[in-house]
Amino acid sequence: MRATAVANANLALVKYWGKRDEKLILPQHGSISLTLQGLETRTSVTFDRTLAHDDVLVNGKPVPPAGRVLGLLDLVRGMAGSDCRARVESENSFPTAVGLASSAAAFAALALAASRAAGLFLDQPGLSRLARQGSGSACRSIYGGFAEWLPGHRPDGSDSFAEPVAPEEHWDLPVLIALVRSGAKEVSSAQGMARSVATSPFYPAWREQAAKDLNLVRQAIARRDLALLGRVAEENAMRMHAVAMAAEPPTLYWSPGTVAVLEKVRSLRRQGLEVYPSMDAGPHVHLLTSRESVAALRVELLALPEVSEVRLSGPGPGVRLLDVETP
Ligand code: PMV
Repeated sequence: MRATAVANANLALVKYWGKRDEKLILPQHGSISLTLQGLETRTSVTFDRTLAHDDVLVNGKPVPPAGRVLGLLDLVRGMAGSDCRARVESENSFPTAVGLASSAAAFAALALAASRAAGLFLDQPGLSRLARQGSGSACRSIYGGFAEWLPGHRPDGSDSFAEPVAPEEHWDLPVLIALVRSGAKEVSSAQGMARSVATSPFYPAWREQAAKDLNLVRQAIARRDLALLGRVAEENAMRMHAVAMAAEPPTLYWSPGTVAVLEKVRSLRRQGLEVYPSMDAGPHVHLLTSRESVAALRVELLALPEVSEVRLSGPGPGVRLLDVETP
């Protein structure tokens, strides 16, 4: 059977940074994100008896399947009681070369496409648990709008999955994404967070702060309070980067363009624009802002020589099935 699913990337407002179980991908603490409109991965999975091994094509090109992709396919085969190999075809609506490729969108789409192609009908918590085992942040992209990953306590991970906080219609919250010029990423998020947990002297404080930030961000979302959401999301992002910078070896995800955007944000705020930056494990800057500020902000960002492109996004949909074909 063949199934095709589409999922969107997400921006973490309270970030997931640190695992308590590397294999099952269980986090040290909870996180909340906004699923982003327009940044999509579309994935088809075909289970085919004639295949000798799993085949993966990304944007039309064959790639050696990553261990995490094979791992997720194995989980699906285990649940379906099958040993059939799969062909996975994945396409991004955003350029992977600029470093915006999202493992969250990729694994959320893969979880839905692979499970349906194997004849399984997982509920949303089940899909979220499956996507989590490809990439932690993917468990939140199952839902549109705002979603929270409940860290869970059980060693088997059965209580570690995301749930919806508010749907995409809840808040017309613009997010501008400033793509800054930079080289290839040197340290993956998985490596960066493992180093942070093991060696950053700030890690225990980071973990404690996460619980406080989660409370504030839940309140801000419920009240559609941009000033509160922005302040907490910005502080949370800066703290995550500070934790990584203080690890051994020190881990810096920023490029000069990241700092240029942060400085610009500061001066625009002095002029009265409402804008709050957040960076995931990379140099690009997501900017939470108000509808009235979008046009001026975009012009100011594009005027920076370090910024190559600015994309407008906002709350987007959860993972959805496009098509299922039975032979
Ligand atoms: O899911 P991963 O392994 O790509 O890690 C995501 C880490 C951050 O993007 C920095 C934070 C988050 O919560 O998404």
